[in-house]
Amino acid sequence: MAILVTGGAGYIGSHTVIELVKKGYEVVIVDDYSNAKPEVLNRLKELTGKDVPFHEVNICHKEALREVFEQHDLDAVIHFAGYKAVGESVAQPLKYYSNNLNGTIVLMELMNEYNVKKIVFSSSATVYGMTNEAPFTEDMPLSTTNPYGTTKMFIEQFIQDQYVADNAWSAALLRYFNPIGAHESGRIGEDPNDIPNNLMPYITQVAVGKREKLSVFGSDYETHDGTGVRDYIHVLDLAKGHIKALEKVLASTGVEAYNLGTGKGYSVLDVVHAFETANNVEIPYELNDRRPGDIATSYADVSKAKNALGWEATYSVEDMCRDSWNWQKSNPNGYDD
Ligand code: UFG
Repeated sequence: MAILVTGGAGYIGSHTVIELVKKGYEVVIVDDYSNAKPEVLNRLKELTGKDVPFHEVNICHKEALREVFEQHDLDAVIHFAGYKAVGESVAQPLKYYSNNLNGTIVLMELMNEYNVKKIVFSSSATVYGMTNEAPFTEDMPLSTTNPYGTTKMFIEQFIQDQYVADNAWSAALLRYFNPIGAHESGRIGEDPNDIPNNLMPYITQVAVGKREKLSVFGSDYETHDGTGVRDYIHVLDLAKGHIKALEKVLASTGVEAYNLGTGKGYSVLDVVHAFETANNVEIPYELNDRRPGDIATSYADVSKAKNALGWEATYSVEDMCRDSWNWQKSNPNGYDD
């Protein structure tokens, strides 16, 4: 059973590769290193004991990606590859539409051609937009606030439409909430390019002394302490959710969306304090203005994934803080160390 993992050298992709290998799947990675480092492959080898086949390919390049379909007898695809920085997507929308949408179209065309019609897609809770109220359920109307989110919403639609055209397709659209944490070994983790956009990598860079203090974006939200509330999920729980979704997709046809979250909301200050307690380090912070496009509260209704996939998150926010810090402190400069 061979699984193509696009974006398999990235943060969530690399953790999922480990789970796949552990479960006995043959894995083939494609990644263009646009937001990943070659060192990840050494770490994956160290952790899995396997040389996972890797192709440095941007999935928009059809002939290069075709070679991968020619060389491997694939059964399914887990599709992570895509740009993911919200702010950058607002500044450079065409870069996002071009890469994320074209890449997926090329991938799905080849899947059709090679009769590989099973896909697990890396979507996002961002598709719930600004008007739904948490807890978010999969049947809520979708909308987005930035081009990155719009690419996720469009790709969900591409997959739905493809299933209507050809009922042999089978897909899971996984709507991630806020993935944080790292492999417990501290050997793989999140390694953002430049200044981190997301909360946890920013906190860990403050903790390790690379940044002076955390800027808290907004303290006047209607939440228990005024700061934004999110559903943080350990990346290893997320990786396990992909295995459950893959099993479902391999055993059925049709398209289903699933929330992958814990169902619990924590504010920015809750996370800061959990991090301080779990790791015995201080995180200086400053309360600042809201970040445009942010919502007050986001957390998942997790019942569908639990009932249909038999999956639920197991790690606590303290576990997530411990593992994020363990990764950052043993790799202060990420994979460049
Ligand atoms: N935050 C800060 N300071 C920072 C960074 C973040 O206060 O330096 C706050 C945000 O305002 C928000 C919370 O921390 O309240 C989480 O912010 P993140 O940027 O970590 O995550 P978001 O919820 O904004 O976005 C994440 C992913 C997106 C995805 C979205 C889905 O980054 O890719 O969840 O809801 F689309």
